[in-house]
Amino acid sequence: MMDENKIPLIEVENMKKYYPVKGGIITHTTGYVKAVDGVSFSIPKGQTLGLVGESGCGKSTIGRQLVGLETPTEGKIYYNGCDLSAIRKNKKQMQQIRTKLQMVFQDPYSSLNPRKHIFEILAQPMLYNHISTKATVEQDILKILDMVGLPRTVLGRYPHEFSGGQRQRIGIAKALSLNPEFIVCDEPVSALDVSIQAQILNLLKELQKELGLTLLFVGHGLGAVNYVSDRIAVMYLGKIVEIGEAKEVFRHPVHPYTKALLDAVLIPDTAQKKQERKLLQGEIGSSTNPPGGCRFHNRCPYAVEQCKQNVPKLQKAGGASTRQVACPVVLAEGKEADHE
Ligand SMILES: Nc1ncnc2c1ncn2[C@@H]1O[C@H](COP(=O)(O)OP(=O)(O)OP(=O)(O)O)[C@@H](O)[C@H]1O
Ligand SMILES: [Mg+2]
Repeated sequence: MMDENKIPLIEVENMKKYYPVKGGIITHTTGYVKAVDGVSFSIPKGQTLGLVGESGCGKSTIGRQLVGLETPTEGKIYYNGCDLSAIRKNKKQMQQIRTKLQMVFQDPYSSLNPRKHIFEILAQPMLYNHISTKATVEQDILKILDMVGLPRTVLGRYPHEFSGGQRQRIGIAKALSLNPEFIVCDEPVSALDVSIQAQILNLLKELQKELGLTLLFVGHGLGAVNYVSDRIAVMYLGKIVEIGEAKEVFRHPVHPYTKALLDAVLIPDTAQKKQERKLLQGEIGSSTNPPGGCRFHNRCPYAVEQCKQNVPKLQKAGGASTRQVACPVVLAEGKEADHE
């Protein structure tokens, strides 16, 4: 159970991010990609929220807004209760806060300057942000390398001289080097060999425990996300459709889309359960012109007329659980069960 007394380190209120779509040679706006369209959640200090959903549903977009790489079109982000939009104009304060909010990318190569060796890559931001002094920076870096399981000999090497797994360890070291409180891990293991994936996931779990970090862990499938997360949010075309305790969402998904996502995870299953879970049908819609009503209705095997008309809101799924789901069919079933 989530501890209700814990102050959320991160709180997101109705976040929207619309990207203008430019048309023709004269670049005028012809529409918007509604990459994130009204998303709210919070992450208590020291916990991991997993974020899953198909490609293009807006996961990385949420991550980029949270670490300040982009600004939401609408909505609020609170860090430790502080409204980020209110302090955006105060450059000094914003810079301080941004060191506390870091990101680990799927492809660490893209975030590591290929012309600099590892010492320079790590030392420069640490000195610039006054995390270390010239006298202490090497010792501080060696400590971080130890934490992420890299030998001291890597300091003079360049990013291309490492394997994918090692490079991801450097990516994690880079994020850790600024003493963050919150890290967005954007599919940190998706590009890695399966045997290396477990190592990196375990490293992230250990580091989180040791340093008391708060994480948003983005992934495609529920498997890896379930392994590292306390809670899981499932996204479909810019909206959260289900959110709850990781174990509950993974073991007993209630939203039809979460059920379909779970079908993609290779876990032993009974024939009856398999039959209950119908595979995804139809094409994923577009974020530029999403289907009206519930965005999933055109692919949903349980859709009723109401699903085409009304945009479902996230609501408590019933019982003692804190799980929320945006599906009128599931919610109606829950109410019936409560009355029984
Ligand atoms: N800078 C941008 N300009 C225009 N559209 C964008 C921009 N960034 C993202 N998008 C669009 O926003 C939507 C969400 O993208 P996002 O990268 O957040 O998805 P994602 O869930 O992270 O997908 P993936 O699993 O493939 O990484 C997509 O339709 C994408 O094309
Ligand atoms: Mg992404």
